[in-house]
Amino acid sequence: MTEALPPIPSASLPVSARAPGKCIVFGEHAVVHGAPELVFAIDLETQVLVRAAPATVLNGDSAAARSNPYFARALASVWADGPPIDVRAVSRIPRAAGLGSSAAFVAALTAALGAATGGIDRPTLARRSFQIERGAQGVGSPGDTTAVVGGGFLAINGGPGEPLWTVEDGPRRWDVRRVEDPGWVWVVAHSGIPRSTADAVRAVGERLARPDGPRLLAQFREVAEAGLRAVGRADRAEVASLLARNQELLREVGVSHPRLEELLRAAAPAAEGAKLTGAGAGGSIVALPVPGKETELVRRIARAGGLPFVVRPSPTGAALVEAAPDA
Ligand code: MEV
Repeated sequence: MTEALPPIPSASLPVSARAPGKCIVFGEHAVVHGAPELVFAIDLETQVLVRAAPATVLNGDSAAARSNPYFARALASVWADGPPIDVRAVSRIPRAAGLGSSAAFVAALTAALGAATGGIDRPTLARRSFQIERGAQGVGSPGDTTAVVGGGFLAINGGPGEPLWTVEDGPRRWDVRRVEDPGWVWVVAHSGIPRSTADAVRAVGERLARPDGPRLLAQFREVAEAGLRAVGRADRAEVASLLARNQELLREVGVSHPRLEELLRAAAPAAEGAKLTGAGAGGSIVALPVPGKETELVRRIARAGGLPFVVRPSPTGAALVEAAPDA
């Protein structure tokens, strides 16, 4: 039976919502072109608080409320006739790091505004969050917004069973399916090099339009499909070797970076496998630690100048935050 994810219930202002970040294990970039992706929600979160206010402000700033493209698009999409609001956002997800900070902000905000306008079911929240993020970035797939709305491990355009939902964008279509969490601990690490997802996605699009593009895309597809099967049977050795193959492909399409390669080298003695995660060209890596060497892995990455986080999948996606009962 297809899992039914709980809707975001109706709530009145003030309302607070949270959403996790994400980590792509296999298939970034190729997913934009319809290939499969494996992604999980991570236990680093963004939280927003929405209150009625005399004028609309984001973190106390009315100019930011107009210039932040994610905020402006979210309001235009789901709060067009709404009264002015004061939105505060706090996040533990590093920004522009490939770990889903913009998707988490969009999903938490859209969940809060959806609650304040009578509630919103999860497929609609996923689709709206994608449209808002896609509109702000100009390019991209629903992978990030799907992960932070759905929580846990998810397959885009692959995996077993019935889809939880489908997202469409013009002629493109992505099916979303639940994948069982193999129960592993992961380490993600930010290189400190900020990057633009849109620029990286456009550059890869141009690379894949060259004559050997279809061959490369077929290889991305093959690795992600094998990765989905390997995670499904909790085969760490196979997952590790596929992480390395996926990294080779990402190098070949030009989105690795010398700092990412340094972090991957530093991680190698304590990691079964590792690769960049997200758009690349900076941003972050993901590593599967050798069991028992998690601390050593974190130390190695930190010594090489990375910002490591030990992460577990966050089982729930975007959700309302219950107000603390009055004392
Ligand atoms: C960015 O986190 C993942 C990319 O595949 C872009 C996208 O899917 O929107 C690079």
